[in-house]
Amino acid sequence: MRTVVIANQKGGSGKSTTAAALAQAAAHKGRRVLAIDIDPQGNLSFFLGADTNRAGSFEMLEGEPATIQHMAGGLDVIAASWNLQTISSGRGSARRLRTALEPIAAQYNLIVIDTPPTAGELQYNALMAASDLIIPLQADIVGLQGLYQMVDTARQIQQSNPALKLTGIILTRHGSRSTLARQMTETIRTKAQEMGIPFLMAIREAVALREAQTLQRSLYEYAPNSNPAADYLQLLDKLEQ
Ligand SMILES: Nc1ncnc2c1ncn2[C@@H]1O[C@H](COP(=O)(O)OP(=O)(O)O)[C@@H](O)[C@H]1O
Ligand SMILES: [Mg+2]
Repeated sequence: MRTVVIANQKGGSGKSTTAAALAQAAAHKGRRVLAIDIDPQGNLSFFLGADTNRAGSFEMLEGEPATIQHMAGGLDVIAASWNLQTISSGRGSARRLRTALEPIAAQYNLIVIDTPPTAGELQYNALMAASDLIIPLQADIVGLQGLYQMVDTARQIQQSNPALKLTGIILTRHGSRSTLARQMTETIRTKAQEMGIPFLMAIREAVALREAQTLQRSLYEYAPNSNPAADYLQLLDKLEQ
């Protein structure tokens, strides 16, 4: 059982897309998978077609019962809601998600957690509950800065959650045609190795992925032969090694 957190303190880096596609890839392969959305924006919940009016991750963090929504295609979801913004913090509060997951984790092969684009209570809860951190970013200079911040945060959390591995970096919305993108990819590869993160892969860009998201369809049902569908299956393979 792996609990994978998708995090980066920068918005628009492909976190929610990656969380959704990875969960869909796992469900497509017949794995028992739970997707948890702890971003008040609720993009992952939307992509997976979950109802954000049901008791979800907010209630879970408050120690109250949360609804696990069973979606078509064998995917379970705990949805986000706007009131996640109001979540309290305090001594020991970063362990709430970890504690809430303990009784249900054994039912799943994979748990995927999507996070908001800021360091703080919600992101810390996800990192404290996780075994693997995947950092998605775009191969540009802003992406590289975000990577440094995220790795710093993860190293601090590792002092309290030593099971957390910095599993890999994925370059999202990747187009290999421009020289700049190629150079940035090599720079990020080198920096990642220096930081002890050996795994880096690219997810190719495709309009079909955005269409699937808009229609709230699984990528593996809507565009199974698309480049990102193949790339996210490869990410799943890597996680299961
Ligand atoms: N491989 C891809 N191909 C095409 N569009 C993508 C791809 N990955 C991400 N996107 C788009 O990039 C935007 C930002 O992605 P998102 O997952 O919402 O980022 P974040 O959750 O980090 O804010 C979205 O509009 C999403 O549809
Ligand atoms: Mg998001």
